[in-house]
Amino acid sequence: MAVADPWIPSSWRSLPALQQPDWPDPAAAESVRQRLGQLPPLVFAGEARALTRALGEAVEGRAFLLQAGDCAESFRDVSAVAIRERLKVLLQMSAVLTYGATLPVVKVGRIAGQFTKPRTSSTERVGGVELPSFRGHAIHSDEPDAAARVPDPERMVQAYYQAVSTLNLLRAFTKGGFADLTQVQTWNQEFVSSSPEGRRYAVIANEIGRALRFMQAIGIDLGDERAIHEVDVWTSHEALLLDYEEPLVRRDSTTGDWYACSAHFLWSGERTRQLDGAHVGFLAGVENPVGVKLGPAAMPDEVVALCERLNPLRVPGRLTLVTRLGADRVREALPPLARAVRESGIPVLWACDPMHANTFVTPSGHKTRRFDDVLREIEGFFASHREVGTWPGGVHLEITAEDVTECLGGSEEVREEQLDHRYETLCDPRLNARQSLDLAFRVAELMRAVT
Ligand code: PEP
Ligand code: CO
Repeated sequence: MAVADPWIPSSWRSLPALQQPDWPDPAAAESVRQRLGQLPPLVFAGEARALTRALGEAVEGRAFLLQAGDCAESFRDVSAVAIRERLKVLLQMSAVLTYGATLPVVKVGRIAGQFTKPRTSSTERVGGVELPSFRGHAIHSDEPDAAARVPDPERMVQAYYQAVSTLNLLRAFTKGGFADLTQVQTWNQEFVSSSPEGRRYAVIANEIGRALRFMQAIGIDLGDERAIHEVDVWTSHEALLLDYEEPLVRRDSTTGDWYACSAHFLWSGERTRQLDGAHVGFLAGVENPVGVKLGPAAMPDEVVALCERLNPLRVPGRLTLVTRLGADRVREALPPLARAVRESGIPVLWACDPMHANTFVTPSGHKTRRFDDVLREIEGFFASHREVGTWPGGVHLEITAEDVTECLGGSEEVREEQLDHRYETLCDPRLNARQSLDLAFRVAELMRAVT
């Protein structure tokens, strides 16, 4: 029998690669790959292993994953304030979920590298003009202009440097005191007291405050406790643009294994998860924790085959299956998948993306999602896993810290006629900060029922 060639970072090149840009000048793309290959890694192998262990805890039902951030990060949005505010929402949501679940929450941002988008259609209409679809700032500009949409490989270098500076500030904020739990609790109290809807969560918020005061009362010095003021926030993005990912793969000097060093966690999207495709082939060779999105067309045997391919050594935390089935379909579609995977014996973390199968376009032409559908898919996710006896291990959300009007509903209800006010996303509609926190409180209520 022929022995398969060992995996190397470029192995994907012999497989069909969907959704890749057609660089007008292949030599320019090659030069960028060379340069990226010389630049330092963004993350190191030991961190990826630590995240696998943390996610492994979630596989066993001893932790919960909160993965959230932009649909597409923007090259125009790299200020310190923007990064701080994004982190702040993630920490606020996490504090609420930790309390609701009485479990550690593994915090993973769609941040510091989420610069490419898969698109179903190769063209889109913007203001009456037909243009190549926007595929993310690592590939081209979002300007509605045919010349601006020509893929430019130099943008991959800019994506790298923006990811570096974003991650640098995240590391500083999460270890430098900004993430202090008492501070996060103050922000949550502000949310609760600043609107009638927020008051619905006064009980949970007050309980968290009491828990902190209780710890202080029994002599725990909150100012001195590392767990109170330092957190781990991990980075993630869709590993779509393989010309970017390949040169950032590095061999770990301590184990000799390959690691994708563009982020701690990478996933394959619904459009590029073919078993024999380039993206799954790429993820199969790196040791990072990885994810796969699963839409309503996913079949149980196909999902088990993906589990075999991506987690042959059956490492808990290595593989996260992110279902995005739709609020109306989740109850019917998820249990057969969860049963088949459970029977295979391969450990996976189940996470719910309640965004991508609940998107629709309003008569005014805005792509949007209803808060209630998002919540309903999460409820269906919990109910399905309860039915099968598997652990509903996390959520995967598109959120922003800005006060945008992109999704409908939520505590300070966004109505259809208001979508125009601040519709700013580069791609899909995101929950704004209040809607995100509102959702965290709702999920915390659901978690209290199961833990
Ligand atoms: C996304 O997460 O932004 C995305 C495109 O998701 P999916 O691959 O599930 O459609
Ligand atoms: Co999206």
